Amino acid sequence: MSRQTEHTQAAVLFVCLGNICRSPTAQGVFEHKLARSAHAGAVETDSAGTGDWHVGKAPDARARQAAASRGYRIDHLRARQVTPDDFHRFDWILAMDASNLAHLQAMKPEGSRAQLAMFLEPLGDAFESEVPDPYYGGDAGFAHVLDLCEAASDAWLMRLGSSANENKD
Ligand code: 4NP
Repeated sequence: MSRQTEHTQAAVLFVCLGNICRSPTAQGVFEHKLARSAHAGAVETDSAGTGDWHVGKAPDARARQAAASRGYRIDHLRARQVTPDDFHRFDWILAMDASNLAHLQAMKPEGSRAQLAMFLEPLGDAFESEVPDPYYGGDAGFAHVLDLCEAASDAWLMRLGSSANENKD
């Protein structure tokens, strides 16, 4: 089967608090899997934080090291804050935790294109519902973030692929 590269099916924004640990990791893992999937080139991605403390910074060194240990590249990413325009640019805005989601819901403008969801929502009850903030913890927290990002990225790729097929009918 040929790769579906002729048009963008979806634009996805990953959101956490600082945009230096969880959401850049989610973006990097998702992009890695996307590039190896049938949807390569058909999904645009970015990440952002609800807070502005780390704007312009590279991902946390612990997040970069954990990602690199599994073959994911996130060093080139730079933190930015979520903007009202993001709600018009992206089809999906995926929150790492419930606090991020509440923040996004509160700032969602009228006529927003974006659907808001928890990043782990498609994993169902077998997993926790939030990606825990690893910032004040140890290396195990960063490895756990990667585990969750890998499982959720697989699930979102399946979901985005099946909704693209529905739209073809
Ligand atoms: P993130 O982690 O939301 O996964 O990027 C955090 C990074 C920084 C802070 C909190 C969480 N902070 O308080 O500076």
